[in-house]
Amino acid sequence: MLRTKTCGELRSENIGEEVTLCGWVDGYRDHNGVVFIDLRDRYGITQVAFKLDLAPEIQEQARKLRNEDVLRATGTVIDRGENVNPKLDTGKIEIHASELEVYSKSKTPPFEPGTQELPNEELRLQYRFLDLRRQELHDALAIRHRVSKITRDYFDTQGFLEIETPMLGRSTPEGARDYLVPSRVHPGAFYALPQSPQIYKQILMVAGYDRYYQLARCFRDEDLRADRQPEFTQIDVEMAFVDREDIFSTIDGLVAALIEGVRGTSTPLPLPRISYHDAMERFGSDKPDLRFGMELVDVGETVADCEFGVFKNVIAGGGRVRGMNAKGAAEKYSRKNIDGLTAFVGEYGAKGLAFFRVKANEGGDLCLDSPIAKFFSDEHQQAIIGKLKGEAGDLLFFVADKPAVTSAALGALRFRLGRELELYDPKEINCAWIIDFPLVTWNEDENRWDAEHHPFCSVVAEDVELIKTDPGKVRALSYDLVVNGNEAASGSIRIHDSDTQQAVFDLLGMPAEEAEARFGFLLEALRYGAPPHGGIALGLDRWVMLFCGYDNIRDVIAFPKTQKAADLLSGAPSEVDSRQLRDLHIRNVTK
Ligand code: AMO
Ligand code: AMP
Repeated sequence: MLRTKTCGELRSENIGEEVTLCGWVDGYRDHNGVVFIDLRDRYGITQVAFKLDLAPEIQEQARKLRNEDVLRATGTVIDRGENVNPKLDTGKIEIHASELEVYSKSKTPPFEPGTQELPNEELRLQYRFLDLRRQELHDALAIRHRVSKITRDYFDTQGFLEIETPMLGRSTPEGARDYLVPSRVHPGAFYALPQSPQIYKQILMVAGYDRYYQLARCFRDEDLRADRQPEFTQIDVEMAFVDREDIFSTIDGLVAALIEGVRGTSTPLPLPRISYHDAMERFGSDKPDLRFGMELVDVGETVADCEFGVFKNVIAGGGRVRGMNAKGAAEKYSRKNIDGLTAFVGEYGAKGLAFFRVKANEGGDLCLDSPIAKFFSDEHQQAIIGKLKGEAGDLLFFVADKPAVTSAALGALRFRLGRELELYDPKEINCAWIIDFPLVTWNEDENRWDAEHHPFCSVVAEDVELIKTDPGKVRALSYDLVVNGNEAASGSIRIHDSDTQQAVFDLLGMPAEEAEARFGFLLEALRYGAPPHGGIALGLDRWVMLFCGYDNIRDVIAFPKTQKAADLLSGAPSEVDSRQLRDLHIRNVTK
């Protein structure tokens, strides 16, 4: 070892010891010729002083040190006495250096890893090696390591095997675009990078590996958002001879182990469950943030005969009027703020956002205050206040529209208001299962049924008959785990016989030949003795993001890609030379 201690470990007990530290220059001060260096490594920062009694060549070298230079210093641990630095764990001591070796000089960095004011993300991603020196990223990657380690230990104690599945495989069914890899030896043929190990893990069940898991890399060419990367990691799980309850209890155990291991707190089990239907009714979302209430309320009946045309007409046309009560927020949102919220719900299809402030009139009775209040009789106002449990100072919001638009708009508004009004403790990790998703949803653009999860989900037994008569009502044996308003895991019990599988492909309008061409190898495997099986995949990056309390998945990935799927550090994707293309039988038509 080139060093005897790290920059984070020296304390008063070490005073008098001779030590050698290595690290980066985090800060530099020259006090009348005495050079003070903050020396940083991933464990912390230690102050190293180069005094005037040192050999002139060492003093000379020390004076030339600048931020991000890498060095090794040997010296004695000294008590800092009065000059304690309470911000540093090592703040009670400093090193009086006797030797200095400069390993490498740094160019002037475009930003300092210790800076409070972060530069724009593009610059950080371009100089990711500097960005990764930041303490926040060290901490995030340490949590990421903990999550992987706890996961592996947990599944090991439960008798699972970690089995790798191919990266170069066939196109899989998660519904995004594939990343394709051309084959050199099979001209014109392509591998697809896996969107998930879905098919392979089901085949492992057929093959008798009844408890499988894998920390699996997945690749999806889709529109990116703050919680989505083109390549990401799943904690992928599949089990045979199980029903939904077995999956829930297995994953409940993992979740409790993760929270215990990362946060040191225990989680009451089983995790709560909410049906998809109730989640949409109460929160307007299939991934509700359950750290706060503010549930949606249907006032359709109450306002069906009011004088406000928008509400009346929407109800008459079969739509819904739903709303929610932002408690005590009447004065927190100005007219201008509410215009902003109206534009926001507009992104979810809402044509407007009706709002009322609840006030006490002179007699002390509650009433509604709003530009549109005049369209509501006193009885209507009292009924609305009653339904939303209004009190003076509350702010009520309503959207009138097709049922799905009221859910989407109010679900998003609820999520936003929860954050703006600080209705929860940002450190809380709140988990719940969402169960009984619909098997299929109607795709209006393409005039067909789409799988809500993927085409291999099994069906709630009593709904099987409905597949032919009323597909939209069929509930799948699928489930999501939502954490603080994020979809943190998703899975299902699978279809294990090829006839039912074919019936679902038929429903999805996938001709037998296409199903055979795309998933034939799974269908064939199912014909050779398939056990009942099911599984789930947790988005590992999202879990780490939640544990860190971040909004951006890129902050928990060492080398992430931008919203445009570019790696700014390496410059990928990039052009390749024409010879490589020729070998792959590919012609570039963009030139
Ligand atoms: P699904 O497609 O829902 O299911 O993915 C499972 C979980 O993976 C995470 N996730 C992502 N994380 C980051 N970036 C992305 N682009 C991204 N896409 C998904 C989410 C999600 O809940 N094979 C099925 C699982 C199964 O049925 O067992 C699957 O992949 O947290
Ligand atoms: P207007 O009649 O368009 O001037 O709208 C009057 C108020 O009703 C405004 O505050 C609108 O935002 C609101 N509003 C309009 N359409 C809807 C709707 N579909 N749902 C809820 N509020 C609406």
